[in-house]
Amino acid sequence: MNLTVIGAGYVGLVTGACFAELGNHVTCVDVNQNKIANLKQGILPIYEPGLEPLVTSNMNEGRLHFVTSLDELTVSPDVIFIAVGTPSDKDGSADMQYVLEAARNIGAHINNYCVVVDKSTVPVGVADQVRKIIQDELNKRSLSIHFDVVSNPEFLREGAAIDDFMRPDRIIIGLSSEDAKAIMLALYTPILRHPEKLFFMNIKDAEMTKYVANAMLATKISFMNEMAVLCDRMGVDVDNVRIGIGSDSRIGNSFIYPGCGYGGSCFPKDVKALIKMAENHGVEPLVLHAVEARNHHQKKVLPEKIIELFGNDLSNKKIAVWGLSFKPGTDDMREASSLVLLESLLDRNAQVHAYDPVAMPVARAMFPQDWLQSGQLQLAEHQYDALQDADALVLVTEWKPFCYPDLTAMKKLMRRHLILDGRNQYDPKQLKAAEFEYYGIGRS
Ligand SMILES: NC(=O)c1ccc[n+]([C@@H]2O[C@H](COP(=O)([O-])OP(=O)(O)OC[C@H]3O[C@@H](n4cnc5c(N)ncnc54)[C@H](O)[C@@H]3O)[C@@H](O)[C@H]2O)c1
Repeated sequence: MNLTVIGAGYVGLVTGACFAELGNHVTCVDVNQNKIANLKQGILPIYEPGLEPLVTSNMNEGRLHFVTSLDELTVSPDVIFIAVGTPSDKDGSADMQYVLEAARNIGAHINNYCVVVDKSTVPVGVADQVRKIIQDELNKRSLSIHFDVVSNPEFLREGAAIDDFMRPDRIIIGLSSEDAKAIMLALYTPILRHPEKLFFMNIKDAEMTKYVANAMLATKISFMNEMAVLCDRMGVDVDNVRIGIGSDSRIGNSFIYPGCGYGGSCFPKDVKALIKMAENHGVEPLVLHAVEARNHHQKKVLPEKIIELFGNDLSNKKIAVWGLSFKPGTDDMREASSLVLLESLLDRNAQVHAYDPVAMPVARAMFPQDWLQSGQLQLAEHQYDALQDADALVLVTEWKPFCYPDLTAMKKLMRRHLILDGRNQYDPKQLKAAEFEYYGIGRS
């Protein structure tokens, strides 16, 4: 099939590359000219394991192309995916300007029947708006072209995106047309090992499914984080509690690991957008407000512990930070817990030496320049370089190279042998036996 993907970010690029790998002819369109110029040279804007070889091999095979405008399409697409960003607006609602602009462009360009698939996470009812905008544009062109709008929310996880795409837990498709159903089925058949994993429903149900899925996961995290804080106060090891409850098949082991808060481009903004949707419909989102509030507090747990240990003035303290991305496997730092930690430490005049296996270029571009220029924040070349003369190490992101650190080397490098473990990665007994002070989330 001929596919067009509007938006070449995390979702658009993965979608485009994976569908090209399945033999489709894919053109990714992005308004960011720099991004497209780099992609044409095989330079990817993001780190995602396995994505670079997939993009380059499909470009070399002539199945994957990059352009900056729909004007450049040489063939009429059978399917157009909208995969642009839907960030939070000032009031917390999802900002639809990019989706609606994409819809306008589609209406201004299509000349044949096609299926327009919304992959961006959009509030309930946006597919109807997309349909109306496309129709209005066609009317302006005095064209009578049939098209269908489908909601196909994306569930990939950054860091495991290709595997998630090729081996999905489920594919949700909201539609109201048999023509579109046949096309979507044909599109996904190559990756459908289990047909029962494909769920057709109506469009609004599909739009809502994405928000409820993310809100449920965020709820599990925030609930467990709150329990961790309580365990901490009561001298209970939350890790044992986690193992105890996770063995209950009704609860399960996923998303019950306490930590220093969730971040990323999805959970924070999607919880906010769902809150707004509830409020707009006269429902008080009590649970969602609590989920958000707990996460806000949780990101402060590590800086507060540092202040408790060293006092409010950190002028003579050097703090090492391992991990800047919002989770391992990605260089995405949107809403990362590391940002709250760094801001709090730098505000109190600490010297911070940070290291991340892949997010350093993103960090360098994203951090306020005065943080770096003042020398107060230094980005280390290696994880152990960050530890030289450090008064504490804070683990924020549980990248694999941090899992089994060389404690002997660390003891030689660090001024004070103190580890604050924001992801409960380390065994407190082992660290204490190695004469490290240890603080975990709910298990000190
Ligand atoms: N990142 C994830 O893990 C993930 C997972 C599931 C769903 N989603 C959802 O998918 C959507 C996209 O997220 P993302 O992380 O890929 O975003 P992103 O910010 O990485 O990429 C969006 C891209 O769209 C481009 N763009 C904006 N307007 C455009 C236009 N009119 N025409 C062409 N390109 C345009 C931008 O330049 C940017 O490159 C969001 O709704 C998000 O909530 C993201």
